[in-house]
Amino acid sequence: MKKLFLITAFIGGLLCACNSGDKLVYKDASASIEDRVEDLLSRMTLEEKIYQISQQCLGENDNINNNEGMNPVPLNPMIGSVIFMSEDIKVRNEFQKKAIEETRLGIPVIYGYDVIHGYRTIYPIPLAMACSWDPSMLEACTAVAAQEARQAGVDWVFAPMIDVARDARWGRIAEGSGEDPYTAAQFAVAAVKGFQGDNLTSDKKVASCLKHFVGYGASEAGRDYVYSEISDQSLWDTYLPPYEAAVKAGAQTLMSAFNDISGVPASANSYTMNTILRDMWKFDGFIVSDWGAVEQLINQGNAANPAEAALNALTAGVDMDMTDGVYIKNMEQLVADGKLDVKVIDEAVRRVLRVKFRLGLFENPYTPDVQENERILLASSKETAEKAAEETMVLLKNNNSILPLEGVKRIGLIGPMVKNQHDLLGSWLGHGHDEDVTTIMDAMTAEFPDAFINYAQGCDFDGEDKSGFNDAVRVANASDVVVLCLGEKQAWSGENASRSTILLPQIQRDLLETVAKTGKPVVLVLNNGRPLELSGMEPHTAAILEAWQPGISGGTPIAKVLNGKVNPSGKLCATFPYTSGQIPIYYNRRNPARKGTQGFYQDVTVEPMYPFGYGLSYTTYKYGTLKVSAEKVAVDGKLKAEISVTNMGKRAGKETVHWYITDPACSITRPMKELRYFEKAEIQPGETKVFTWDIDVAKDFSYVDAEGTRFLEAGDILVRVGDQTVKVVVE
Ligand code: GLC
Repeated sequence: MKKLFLITAFIGGLLCACNSGDKLVYKDASASIEDRVEDLLSRMTLEEKIYQISQQCLGENDNINNNEGMNPVPLNPMIGSVIFMSEDIKVRNEFQKKAIEETRLGIPVIYGYDVIHGYRTIYPIPLAMACSWDPSMLEACTAVAAQEARQAGVDWVFAPMIDVARDARWGRIAEGSGEDPYTAAQFAVAAVKGFQGDNLTSDKKVASCLKHFVGYGASEAGRDYVYSEISDQSLWDTYLPPYEAAVKAGAQTLMSAFNDISGVPASANSYTMNTILRDMWKFDGFIVSDWGAVEQLINQGNAANPAEAALNALTAGVDMDMTDGVYIKNMEQLVADGKLDVKVIDEAVRRVLRVKFRLGLFENPYTPDVQENERILLASSKETAEKAAEETMVLLKNNNSILPLEGVKRIGLIGPMVKNQHDLLGSWLGHGHDEDVTTIMDAMTAEFPDAFINYAQGCDFDGEDKSGFNDAVRVANASDVVVLCLGEKQAWSGENASRSTILLPQIQRDLLETVAKTGKPVVLVLNNGRPLELSGMEPHTAAILEAWQPGISGGTPIAKVLNGKVNPSGKLCATFPYTSGQIPIYYNRRNPARKGTQGFYQDVTVEPMYPFGYGLSYTTYKYGTLKVSAEKVAVDGKLKAEISVTNMGKRAGKETVHWYITDPACSITRPMKELRYFEKAEIQPGETKVFTWDIDVAKDFSYVDAEGTRFLEAGDILVRVGDQTVKVVVE
């Protein structure tokens, strides 16, 4: 290797020398990015190119799922990128200095990290954010994450995760925006805007990374890293829409997924990465593989050995190899053996360099070492996270309006989540610190100053130890109302966190039943990273608040909902099944062949426990009559649909109107209903607000076929809000 290195260095020196006559265009900030890319590329040796399209790790690996074989090749300052796991800016700058000063061409490294829902100011998990139905809120949160990340030395975040998911057994449903393609697309665009803004060289912006391209959410039976059966039709109508929207919004990178897409793994899939992404969508950024996904092509049966895996991945479109060193270890030989044309490597290097130039890394390769309190957990950042968390709370049940708990004197606060901090952060907690989290206990104490709050843990999250039940019963008996705080540990969702059932552990369900037997009303508060099976728990409750994993705001938004300062406005972006056995169950499924009850389960209902779009409020809204501006419209016409909503209660509230369509007869069968627009607005008591959908028929009514061609056939289209439907004839 040493001899090879010396030869390379000599050739490199010659290359540099023969270019030395002209100025180093790649170092000229006034030159165009494309000119700088080409100039730099022309100066690079093969070895330098291969390192440029490889990524290793810098810092202590904090990703519990990928802790084997860190950096299988020695970390070399020629490396194109590192996953930067340290919070120490000095660590970043020291390594960057090596790259700039100790390599021949001084190409800056791009520092990536998993900033999924916050860098240090952790806001709610993405599944919760989508239940807010406020993409602008997500844009604000991702802007905070971008500022904290960039100023901590991270130029590039491995987010947003935009995989449509319909199987709550899959732990990664927590990381996305739920079951609907249109919803996922809206939140994907908002995240890209928040992360990237309109100036990537800003010290408050980062390059985003759409993941996991593509169809990872279809993982068989909710298991992780497995086969996904996806027809081209489903690929186009369900899994690609969020990616198309976010690529067109300017996302700079994507991450190729682990899953096998109907026989061709995502990380070796030229159709998705080259044909669709580059040829059809004209994407000019770069694709990084998921962790070790190149080498894993061997396990998946796509490659016989690491060299073949490297060849398959690169030629299919994976520009950068994440952490397994397969490109570094095999690519020179592939070229030497005539199996790989350097031009293919050049194109990958070109894409990586392009993003680096766009980020301004050649002009500003170092991160100013600003003290933490001037860039982390700023008051405005924490407020943004808290406001977001308030919007994500979904009220699932509120019998006899027991909530809000106004005037209640004795509150029994029970459950394993009450004094918990770590698990309220959720999966992929970035550099979130447990101590930053407000516990439910502290929040309730602050928000109910006149109430006597009695506490019992009752039980742990799982296990069989019921020794705390008696204390829980004592607390319940001494209270007017019980607030029972149950849920999931943060590691029970996220990556490598599939569960065979979406029931909470038996011990938690037993605690609920034991406390309910005291006869005291139980307000169940849930902190979890997936839809849960609640049908067996619901009868023992007076109210249920789905609070998800709210991040550092922790118990504060929960307590503010319980005391009425916040009127809950969240609505589900993913169906809550009646039983795990119903999975997959989602709102936008096709109609069955048989009407009536034929085809239904013989043992349980086919209806979910809580459907997509469901969520209660402390006020009530009366919907007026749905109106559409015309009964007939051309396929390229425009329409205006509107509906009034009146707040009938005494409390202001925010209501989301979901606009659906149905195409009852189409050459490609379409879902029984499809969300095509939504709007959330605050409505004061007694106020009537008119919600309007300005319909662009060709865009909003159309569908996409298995080749990605958007089409709209003449015929009826039903526009739907709630239980109202208006037919429009498309001519
Ligand atoms: C993980 C995840 C991916 C993450 C990457 C880097 O395995 O699948 O979402 O961005 O590796 O940590």
